[in-house]
Amino acid sequence: MKILVTGGAGFIGSHTVVELLQASAEVIIVDNLSNSSPQALQRVAEISGKAPQFVKADVRDRAALQEIFKEHQPEAVVHFAGLKAVGESVEQPLSYYQNNITGTATLCEVMAEFGCKQLVFSSSATVYGDPEILPITENAPTGATNPYGRTKLFIEEMLRDLHVSDPEWRIALLRYFNPIGAHSSGRIGEDPAGIPNNLFPFISQVAIGKLPHLSVFGNDYATVDGTGVRDYIHVVDLAIGHLRALERLAKAPGLVTCNLGTGRGYSVLEMVAAFSRISGCEVPYQIKPRRAGDIAACYADPSFAKQELGWQAERGLEEMCQDGWRWQQGNRQGYRGSNG
Ligand code: NAD
Ligand code: UFG
Repeated sequence: MKILVTGGAGFIGSHTVVELLQASAEVIIVDNLSNSSPQALQRVAEISGKAPQFVKADVRDRAALQEIFKEHQPEAVVHFAGLKAVGESVEQPLSYYQNNITGTATLCEVMAEFGCKQLVFSSSATVYGDPEILPITENAPTGATNPYGRTKLFIEEMLRDLHVSDPEWRIALLRYFNPIGAHSSGRIGEDPAGIPNNLFPFISQVAIGKLPHLSVFGNDYATVDGTGVRDYIHVVDLAIGHLRALERLAKAPGLVTCNLGTGRGYSVLEMVAAFSRISGCEVPYQIKPRRAGDIAACYADPSFAKQELGWQAERGLEEMCQDGWRWQQGNRQGYRGSNG
């Protein structure tokens, strides 16, 4: 199968491309490299033993997309490309609406023009806002507390409308929980620019000595130890979920919305303890006030994904920490400063 992967040089995209190539798919990547490195693509090829085709372009560039569809005629699209930093989205909302919403609308228009109507979209658990009931099922109420989250909600609605207007579309809306870890080779992983916003890369940079200590944002939540609880999922499990979603779309028409999580939540302090144990490094931390917009706890009910896609997460917290630590140790500066 020929698959177009937008944002395929990024964290989740690069891991998904490896799984697709290993499953013998032909992969074309379109990425503007605004938040990723060409090194990731070299390493994807090294791990997979074959290279994906790569076009450096923006998904808002209609002419570039048309060229790609004309030349490669992909049968399905996995759409990762977009901006994802919650804080930045509050400061630069228009850039989020422009990249995420206009990007997706342009992509879908070009797909329709070329008769390609199978799409897997990267949504997020952020669409559940502050959940009333845990674990979260797909029919829980949705809401967003920041512009990034609103782009995901609006895009989901846009894709539902598209499917209603033309039931030939086959669409999977995958709501990711918290992807962490790295490929077991240690060659690809998460490479945040500057100081990480997310917990796992922050902990791992403290463990290796790049950052002095972790700030724990709040210890007065109604959780096991007062710190925030999340459903961390190994990025390779998440990547494999995309293959199952593509298989599902190939089999039956329709629009399907699935949580991709493990169903198990861990607190910030549990994450610190697990990472310290696996790495053998201390992770000093200081308790700080709550971070604006944070919620106490968020974890998935993953049973619908199992039923609908035949997918469930296989890798536990230990493996997430081991693989994340291997990546951190082998790539102290991420992809920067590396020649291969
Ligand atoms: P990432 O930033 O590593 O990857 C996104 C990729 O898209 C990058 O390579 C970037 O260069 C590219 N890109 C951005 N805007 C583009 C544009 N207009 N045209 C072409 N390329 C563009 O992020 P990620 O963590 O791999 O996330 C992938 C997707 O999953 C995003 O849509 C994100 O919102 C979603 N998601 C991520 C998480 C998470 O915690 N990482 C959680 C839920 C959902
Ligand atoms: N945390 C800290 N210190 C830090 C960073 C995070 O204590 O330096 C805490 C947070 O307060 C939270 C937990 O660690 O309790 C997880 O925080 P992350 O920033 O790693 O993840 P979030 O759940 O806040 O958000 C992430 C993405 C969102 C996405 C969501 C669900 O940033 O875009 O997962 O997929 F929507």
